[in-house]
Amino acid sequence: MNQELIYLDNNATTKLDPRVLEAMMPFLTNQYGNAASNHEFGVAINQYVKEARANIAELIGCDDHEIIFTSGATESINLAIKGIAESNQGKGKHIVTVVTEHPAVLDTCRHLERQGYEITYLPVGPDGLLDMHNVGQSIREDTILVSVMLVNNEIGVIQRIEEIAEIAHAKGAFFMTDATQAVGKIPVLVNHLGIDLMSFSGHKFYGPKGVGALYVRSKRPNKAKLNALIHGGGHEKGLRSGTLNVPGIVGMGQAAWIARKEMQADAQRIGKIRDYIEKELLQIDHAFLNGHSNQRLYNVTNICFEDADADAMIIDLKDIMVSNGSACSSTSVEPSHVLMALGLTERQGFSSLRISLGRFNTQQEAVIAVKSIKEIVTNLRLMNV
Ligand SMILES: Cc1ncc(COP(=O)(O)O)c(C=O)c1O
Repeated sequence: MNQELIYLDNNATTKLDPRVLEAMMPFLTNQYGNAASNHEFGVAINQYVKEARANIAELIGCDDHEIIFTSGATESINLAIKGIAESNQGKGKHIVTVVTEHPAVLDTCRHLERQGYEITYLPVGPDGLLDMHNVGQSIREDTILVSVMLVNNEIGVIQRIEEIAEIAHAKGAFFMTDATQAVGKIPVLVNHLGIDLMSFSGHKFYGPKGVGALYVRSKRPNKAKLNALIHGGGHEKGLRSGTLNVPGIVGMGQAAWIARKEMQADAQRIGKIRDYIEKELLQIDHAFLNGHSNQRLYNVTNICFEDADADAMIIDLKDIMVSNGSACSSTSVEPSHVLMALGLTERQGFSSLRISLGRFNTQQEAVIAVKSIKEIVTNLRLMNV
Protein backbone atom coordinates (compact mmCIF):
# COMPACT_ATOMS: atom_id res chain seq x y z
CA MET A 1 0.00 0.00 0.00
CA ASN A 2 1.04 3.57 -0.65
CA GLN A 3 3.33 5.01 2.06
CA GLU A 4 1.68 8.42 1.76
CA LEU A 5 -1.80 7.15 2.59
CA ILE A 6 -3.79 9.50 4.81
CA TYR A 7 -6.39 7.36 6.49
CA LEU A 8 -9.42 9.38 7.61
CA ASP A 9 -11.94 6.54 7.69
CA ASN A 10 -11.50 5.32 11.27
CA ASN A 11 -15.23 4.72 11.79
CA ALA A 12 -15.04 2.00 9.13
CA THR A 13 -12.12 0.35 10.85
CA THR A 14 -8.98 1.36 12.70
CA LYS A 15 -5.37 0.41 12.17
CA LEU A 16 -4.19 -2.37 14.48
CA ASP A 17 -2.17 -0.77 17.27
CA PRO A 18 1.38 -2.23 17.10
CA ARG A 19 1.14 -3.00 20.83
CA VAL A 20 -1.95 -5.09 20.10
CA LEU A 21 -0.17 -7.01 17.36
CA GLU A 22 2.70 -7.69 19.73
CA ALA A 23 0.32 -9.11 22.33
CA MET A 24 -1.35 -11.31 19.70
CA MET A 25 1.76 -12.75 18.07
CA PRO A 26 2.43 -15.63 20.48
CA PHE A 27 -1.14 -16.87 19.94
CA LEU A 28 -0.70 -16.85 16.16
CA THR A 29 2.50 -18.87 16.49
CA ASN A 30 3.56 -21.24 19.27
CA GLN A 31 0.75 -20.59 21.78
CA TYR A 32 -1.81 -22.25 19.52
CA GLY A 33 -3.68 -24.35 22.11
CA ASN A 34 -7.45 -24.51 22.44
CA ALA A 35 -8.66 -22.47 25.43
CA ALA A 36 -11.28 -25.13 26.17
CA SER A 37 -8.79 -28.03 26.46
CA ASN A 38 -8.22 -29.23 29.99
CA HIS A 39 -4.58 -30.21 29.53
CA GLU A 40 -1.83 -27.94 30.76
CA PHE A 41 -1.43 -26.18 27.40
CA GLY A 42 -5.16 -25.40 27.15
CA VAL A 43 -5.36 -24.22 30.76
CA ALA A 44 -2.41 -21.87 30.19
CA ILE A 45 -4.04 -20.41 27.06
CA ASN A 46 -7.32 -19.98 28.89
CA GLN A 47 -5.56 -17.78 31.44
CA TYR A 48 -4.88 -15.26 28.66
CA VAL A 49 -8.52 -15.38 27.57
CA LYS A 50 -9.51 -14.69 31.18
CA GLU A 51 -7.15 -11.74 31.34
CA ALA A 52 -8.57 -10.31 28.09
CA ARG A 53 -12.12 -10.79 29.35
CA ALA A 54 -11.22 -8.95 32.56
CA ASN A 55 -9.70 -6.04 30.64
CA ILE A 56 -12.79 -5.69 28.46
CA ALA A 57 -15.12 -6.01 31.46
CA GLU A 58 -13.17 -3.29 33.25
CA LEU A 59 -13.42 -0.99 30.24
CA ILE A 60 -17.24 -1.13 30.35
CA GLY A 61 -17.63 -1.60 34.11
CA CYS A 62 -19.21 -5.05 34.21
CA ASP A 63 -18.42 -8.49 35.63
CA ASP A 64 -16.14 -10.73 33.56
CA HIS A 65 -18.82 -13.39 33.10
CA GLU A 66 -21.16 -10.83 31.49
CA ILE A 67 -18.92 -10.66 28.38
CA ILE A 68 -19.76 -13.06 25.53
CA PHE A 69 -17.13 -13.18 22.80
CA THR A 70 -18.40 -13.16 19.21
CA SER A 71 -17.01 -12.54 15.73
CA GLY A 72 -17.89 -8.83 15.86
CA ALA A 73 -20.65 -6.33 16.50
CA THR A 74 -22.88 -7.68 13.72
CA GLU A 75 -22.99 -11.08 15.37
CA SER A 76 -23.43 -9.53 18.82
CA ILE A 77 -26.39 -7.53 17.54
CA ASN A 78 -27.98 -10.59 15.93
CA LEU A 79 -27.50 -12.59 19.12
CA ALA A 80 -28.93 -9.84 21.33
CA ILE A 81 -32.00 -8.96 19.28
CA LYS A 82 -32.94 -12.43 18.00
CA GLY A 83 -31.95 -13.99 21.33
CA ILE A 84 -34.17 -11.65 23.38
CA ALA A 85 -37.00 -11.87 20.85
CA GLU A 86 -37.05 -15.66 20.95
CA SER A 87 -36.76 -16.04 24.68
CA ASN A 88 -39.40 -13.39 25.46
CA GLN A 89 -42.12 -14.35 23.01
CA GLY A 90 -44.37 -15.14 25.94
CA LYS A 91 -44.32 -11.49 27.00
CA GLY A 92 -44.74 -9.90 23.57
CA LYS A 93 -43.47 -9.47 20.05
CA HIS A 94 -42.88 -5.73 19.83
CA ILE A 95 -39.44 -4.06 19.51
CA VAL A 96 -38.58 -0.37 19.34
CA THR A 97 -35.55 0.90 17.45
CA VAL A 98 -34.46 3.95 15.42
CA VAL A 99 -34.34 4.69 11.68
CA THR A 100 -30.68 5.76 11.87
CA GLU A 101 -29.37 2.48 13.33
CA HIS A 102 -26.64 0.49 11.60
CA PRO A 103 -27.90 -2.03 8.99
CA ALA A 104 -26.89 -4.83 11.39
CA VAL A 105 -29.75 -3.70 13.66
CA LEU A 106 -32.20 -2.67 10.94
CA ASP A 107 -31.84 -5.87 8.90
CA THR A 108 -32.11 -8.04 12.00
CA CYS A 109 -35.34 -6.24 12.86
CA ARG A 110 -36.63 -6.69 9.30
CA HIS A 111 -35.89 -10.39 9.59
CA LEU A 112 -37.94 -10.52 12.79
CA GLU A 113 -40.80 -8.68 11.07
CA ARG A 114 -40.95 -11.53 8.59
CA GLN A 115 -41.23 -13.90 11.58
CA GLY A 116 -44.30 -12.08 12.91
CA TYR A 117 -42.70 -9.49 15.22
CA GLU A 118 -43.76 -5.87 15.11
CA ILE A 119 -41.05 -3.21 14.99
CA THR A 120 -41.42 0.52 15.63
CA TYR A 121 -38.71 2.54 13.85
CA LEU A 122 -38.48 5.88 15.65
CA PRO A 123 -37.67 8.98 13.58
CA VAL A 124 -34.95 11.46 14.57
CA GLY A 125 -34.89 15.24 14.38
CA PRO A 126 -32.81 17.17 11.79
CA ASP A 127 -29.92 16.98 14.31
CA GLY A 128 -30.07 13.17 14.41
CA LEU A 129 -31.31 13.01 17.99
CA LEU A 130 -34.34 11.20 19.39
CA ASP A 131 -37.26 12.94 21.02
CA MET A 132 -37.69 11.44 24.50
CA HIS A 133 -41.45 11.93 24.36
CA ASN A 134 -41.58 9.75 21.20
CA VAL A 135 -39.52 7.09 22.92
CA GLY A 136 -41.95 6.94 25.85
CA GLN A 137 -45.01 6.89 23.59
CA SER A 138 -43.65 4.06 21.46
CA ILE A 139 -43.27 1.53 24.29
CA ARG A 140 -46.29 -0.72 24.87
CA GLU A 141 -47.36 -3.56 27.17
CA ASP A 142 -45.99 -6.09 24.69
CA THR A 143 -42.67 -4.28 24.03
CA ILE A 144 -39.82 -6.62 24.89
CA LEU A 145 -36.83 -4.59 23.75
CA VAL A 146 -35.78 -1.01 23.06
CA SER A 147 -32.60 -0.85 20.97
CA VAL A 148 -30.93 2.53 20.44
CA MET A 149 -27.34 3.00 19.28
CA LEU A 150 -25.03 5.02 21.49
CA VAL A 151 -22.95 6.83 18.84
CA ASN A 152 -24.03 7.02 15.21
CA ASN A 153 -21.36 5.74 12.83
CA GLU A 154 -22.06 8.31 10.10
CA ILE A 155 -22.64 11.57 11.95
CA GLY A 156 -21.32 10.73 15.42
CA VAL A 157 -24.33 11.98 17.38
CA ILE A 158 -24.67 10.60 20.90
CA GLN A 159 -28.17 9.57 21.98
CA ARG A 160 -29.37 10.14 25.56
CA ILE A 161 -28.94 6.49 26.42
CA GLU A 162 -29.31 6.81 30.19
CA GLU A 163 -32.72 8.47 29.89
CA ILE A 164 -33.88 6.03 27.21
CA ALA A 165 -32.86 3.04 29.35
CA GLU A 166 -34.85 4.49 32.25
CA ILE A 167 -37.94 4.94 30.10
CA ALA A 168 -37.62 1.38 28.74
CA HIS A 169 -37.20 -0.11 32.20
CA ALA A 170 -40.11 1.85 33.66
CA LYS A 171 -42.28 0.17 31.03
CA GLY A 172 -40.83 -3.31 31.58
CA ALA A 173 -38.72 -3.58 28.41
CA PHE A 174 -35.06 -4.53 28.10
CA PHE A 175 -32.67 -1.85 26.87
CA MET A 176 -29.99 -2.66 24.34
CA THR A 177 -27.44 -0.35 22.78
CA ASP A 178 -25.14 -0.86 19.82
CA ALA A 179 -22.05 0.87 21.19
CA THR A 180 -19.70 -0.15 18.39
CA GLN A 181 -18.59 3.43 17.74
CA ALA A 182 -18.37 4.39 21.40
CA VAL A 183 -16.53 1.66 23.30
CA GLY A 184 -12.83 2.44 23.60
CA LYS A 185 -13.38 6.07 22.54
CA ILE A 186 -15.48 7.46 25.39
CA PRO A 187 -16.27 6.05 28.83
CA VAL A 188 -19.21 3.64 28.51
CA LEU A 189 -20.15 2.16 31.87
CA VAL A 190 -23.05 -0.24 31.53
CA ASN A 191 -24.33 -0.02 35.10
CA HIS A 192 -24.19 3.74 35.20
CA LEU A 193 -26.06 3.96 31.88
CA GLY A 194 -28.63 1.25 32.66
CA ILE A 195 -27.70 -0.95 29.70
CA ASP A 196 -28.91 -4.57 29.63
CA LEU A 197 -27.29 -5.65 26.35
CA MET A 198 -24.45 -3.98 24.47
CA SER A 199 -22.67 -4.86 21.21
CA PHE A 200 -19.17 -3.78 20.18
CA SER A 201 -16.28 -4.79 17.91
CA GLY A 202 -12.51 -4.97 18.49
CA HIS A 203 -11.48 -3.39 15.20
CA LYS A 204 -13.15 -0.06 15.94
CA PHE A 205 -10.69 0.68 18.75
CA TYR A 206 -7.37 -0.51 17.32
CA GLY A 207 -7.94 -4.20 17.94
CA PRO A 208 -8.13 -6.92 15.29
CA LYS A 209 -11.03 -7.63 12.93
CA GLY A 210 -13.21 -10.69 13.40
CA VAL A 211 -13.68 -10.37 17.16
CA GLY A 212 -16.32 -8.57 19.17
CA ALA A 213 -18.39 -8.94 22.27
CA LEU A 214 -21.87 -8.78 23.65
CA TYR A 215 -22.42 -7.55 27.18
CA VAL A 216 -25.33 -9.42 28.76
CA ARG A 217 -26.61 -8.18 32.13
CA SER A 218 -26.64 -10.99 34.66
CA LYS A 219 -28.08 -9.12 37.62
CA ARG A 220 -31.66 -8.44 38.55
CA PRO A 221 -33.96 -6.66 37.99
CA ASN A 222 -33.08 -6.59 34.30
CA LYS A 223 -31.22 -9.88 33.99
CA ALA A 224 -31.29 -10.52 30.25
CA LYS A 225 -32.17 -14.08 29.27
CA LEU A 226 -31.23 -14.92 25.69
CA ASN A 227 -31.58 -17.86 23.35
CA ALA A 228 -28.41 -18.80 21.50
CA LEU A 229 -27.97 -18.29 17.74
CA ILE A 230 -25.06 -20.68 17.28
CA HIS A 231 -25.29 -24.11 18.88
CA GLY A 232 -22.51 -26.59 19.50
CA GLY A 233 -19.95 -27.18 22.22
CA GLY A 234 -21.56 -24.79 24.69
CA HIS A 235 -18.77 -22.18 24.78
CA GLU A 236 -19.46 -18.73 26.22
CA LYS A 237 -22.10 -20.01 28.67
CA GLY A 238 -23.89 -21.78 25.83
CA LEU A 239 -24.64 -18.49 24.09
CA ARG A 240 -21.97 -18.74 21.39
CA SER A 241 -20.54 -22.13 20.63
CA GLY A 242 -17.33 -22.54 18.67
CA THR A 243 -13.62 -22.66 19.49
CA LEU A 244 -12.56 -19.32 20.89
CA ASN A 245 -10.61 -16.96 18.63
CA VAL A 246 -7.74 -16.69 21.10
CA PRO A 247 -5.46 -14.32 19.12
CA GLY A 248 -8.44 -12.05 18.42
CA ILE A 249 -9.65 -12.09 22.02
CA VAL A 250 -6.16 -11.40 23.40
CA GLY A 251 -5.83 -8.54 20.89
CA MET A 252 -9.18 -7.06 21.84
CA GLY A 253 -8.23 -7.34 25.51
CA GLN A 254 -4.98 -5.49 24.90
CA ALA A 255 -6.82 -2.83 22.88
CA ALA A 256 -9.25 -2.40 25.81
CA TRP A 257 -6.37 -2.03 28.26
CA ILE A 258 -4.72 0.64 26.08
CA ALA A 259 -8.05 2.43 25.57
CA ARG A 260 -8.61 2.69 29.31
CA LYS A 261 -5.17 4.27 29.81
CA GLU A 262 -5.13 6.54 26.74
CA MET A 263 -8.74 7.36 25.95
CA GLN A 264 -8.72 10.78 27.54
CA ALA A 265 -5.48 11.95 25.92
CA ASP A 266 -6.55 10.53 22.53
CA ALA A 267 -9.88 12.33 22.76
CA GLN A 268 -8.28 15.70 23.42
CA ARG A 269 -5.74 15.39 20.63
CA ILE A 270 -8.11 13.93 18.04
CA GLY A 271 -10.84 16.41 18.94
CA LYS A 272 -8.54 19.35 18.19
CA ILE A 273 -7.67 17.94 14.75
CA ARG A 274 -11.34 17.27 13.99
CA ASP A 275 -12.30 20.80 15.01
CA TYR A 276 -9.59 22.25 12.78
CA ILE A 277 -10.75 20.21 9.75
CA GLU A 278 -14.38 21.07 10.34
CA LYS A 279 -13.79 24.78 10.83
CA GLU A 280 -11.77 24.96 7.63
CA LEU A 281 -14.18 22.94 5.52
CA LEU A 282 -17.27 24.79 6.72
CA GLN A 283 -15.73 27.96 5.31
CA ILE A 284 -16.42 26.56 1.84
CA ASP A 285 -19.52 28.16 0.30
CA HIS A 286 -22.68 26.05 0.55
CA ALA A 287 -21.16 23.56 2.93
CA PHE A 288 -23.01 22.50 6.08
CA LEU A 289 -22.57 20.07 8.94
CA ASN A 290 -24.80 16.99 9.13
CA GLY A 291 -26.06 16.18 12.62
CA HIS A 292 -25.89 17.92 15.98
CA SER A 293 -22.79 20.08 16.38
CA ASN A 294 -22.17 19.41 20.10
CA GLN A 295 -23.87 16.25 21.24
CA ARG A 296 -21.58 13.98 19.25
CA LEU A 297 -18.28 12.14 19.29
CA TYR A 298 -15.05 14.10 18.95
CA ASN A 299 -13.55 12.09 16.08
CA VAL A 300 -16.01 12.55 13.24
CA THR A 301 -17.40 15.23 10.99
CA ASN A 302 -19.94 14.71 8.23
CA ILE A 303 -20.23 17.64 5.86
CA CYS A 304 -22.46 18.29 2.85
CA PHE A 305 -20.74 20.21 0.03
CA GLU A 306 -23.72 21.10 -2.10
CA ASP A 307 -23.38 20.29 -5.82
CA ALA A 308 -20.13 18.38 -5.37
CA ASP A 309 -20.57 14.63 -5.82
CA ALA A 310 -19.06 12.69 -2.90
CA ASP A 311 -18.14 9.66 -5.06
CA ALA A 312 -16.20 11.96 -7.39
CA MET A 313 -14.51 13.59 -4.38
CA ILE A 314 -13.42 10.18 -3.05
CA ILE A 315 -11.88 9.29 -6.42
CA ASP A 316 -10.13 12.66 -6.74
CA LEU A 317 -8.81 12.48 -3.18
CA LYS A 318 -6.71 9.47 -4.26
CA ASP A 319 -4.46 8.71 -1.26
CA ILE A 320 -6.73 10.40 1.25
CA MET A 321 -9.30 7.93 2.54
CA VAL A 322 -12.70 9.30 3.53
CA SER A 323 -16.20 7.88 3.24
CA ASN A 324 -19.53 8.83 1.74
CA GLY A 325 -21.70 6.79 4.07
CA SER A 326 -21.67 3.62 6.07
CA ALA A 327 -18.80 1.45 4.86
CA CYS A 328 -20.92 -1.63 5.28
CA SER A 329 -23.39 -0.43 2.67
CA SER A 330 -21.10 1.67 0.54
CA THR A 331 -21.56 -0.59 -2.48
CA SER A 332 -25.17 0.54 -2.57
CA VAL A 333 -26.30 3.32 -4.88
CA GLU A 334 -28.87 4.54 -2.38
CA PRO A 335 -28.14 7.75 -0.48
CA SER A 336 -27.29 7.20 3.18
CA HIS A 337 -30.41 6.26 5.19
CA VAL A 338 -29.01 8.29 8.09
CA LEU A 339 -28.74 11.49 6.07
CA MET A 340 -32.19 10.91 4.56
CA ALA A 341 -33.56 10.57 8.10
CA LEU A 342 -32.15 14.02 8.94
CA GLY A 343 -34.21 15.46 6.09
CA LEU A 344 -31.50 16.00 3.48
CA THR A 345 -32.45 15.75 -0.19
CA GLU A 346 -31.00 12.81 -2.14
CA ARG A 347 -28.68 15.22 -3.89
CA GLN A 348 -27.39 16.59 -0.58
CA GLY A 349 -26.97 13.02 0.65
CA PHE A 350 -24.83 12.19 -2.37
CA SER A 351 -22.76 15.33 -1.73
CA SER A 352 -21.82 14.49 1.85
CA LEU A 353 -18.46 13.25 3.11
CA ARG A 354 -17.63 11.56 6.40
CA ILE A 355 -14.18 12.20 7.84
CA SER A 356 -13.41 10.04 10.86
CA LEU A 357 -10.16 10.36 12.77
CA GLY A 358 -8.21 8.06 15.00
CA ARG A 359 -5.19 7.64 17.25
CA PHE A 360 -2.66 7.64 14.43
CA ASN A 361 -3.77 10.79 12.60
CA THR A 362 -1.69 13.97 12.75
CA GLN A 363 -2.34 17.67 12.33
CA GLN A 364 -0.04 17.62 9.31
CA GLU A 365 -2.32 15.08 7.62
CA ALA A 366 -5.31 17.27 8.43
CA VAL A 367 -3.68 20.27 6.73
CA ILE A 368 -3.04 18.23 3.56
CA ALA A 369 -6.58 16.80 3.55
CA VAL A 370 -8.24 20.19 4.03
CA LYS A 371 -6.26 21.72 1.17
CA SER A 372 -7.12 18.83 -1.16
CA ILE A 373 -10.82 18.82 -0.30
CA LYS A 374 -11.09 22.57 -0.81
CA GLU A 375 -9.50 22.30 -4.27
CA ILE A 376 -11.58 19.30 -5.29
CA VAL A 377 -14.90 20.86 -4.27
CA THR A 378 -14.04 23.99 -6.26
CA ASN A 379 -13.06 21.95 -9.33
CA LEU A 380 -16.12 19.73 -9.22
CA ARG A 381 -18.42 22.70 -8.94
CA LEU A 382 -16.70 24.40 -11.90
CA MET A 383 -17.31 21.25 -13.94
CA ASN A 384 -21.04 21.52 -13.13
CA VAL A 385 -21.42 24.95 -14.76
C1 LIG B 1 -22.56 1.45 14.74
C2 LIG B 1 -22.09 0.16 14.15
N1 LIG B 1 -22.71 -0.97 14.49
C3 LIG B 1 -22.32 -2.16 14.01
C4 LIG B 1 -21.28 -2.28 13.11
C5 LIG B 1 -20.89 -3.62 12.61
O1 LIG B 1 -19.61 -3.97 13.09
P1 LIG B 1 -18.82 -5.24 12.51
O2 LIG B 1 -18.71 -5.00 11.04
O3 LIG B 1 -17.52 -5.21 13.22
O4 LIG B 1 -19.63 -6.44 12.80
C6 LIG B 1 -20.62 -1.11 12.71
C7 LIG B 1 -19.54 -1.15 11.69
O5 LIG B 1 -19.37 -0.24 10.91
C8 LIG B 1 -21.03 0.13 13.25
O6 LIG B 1 -20.43 1.28 12.92
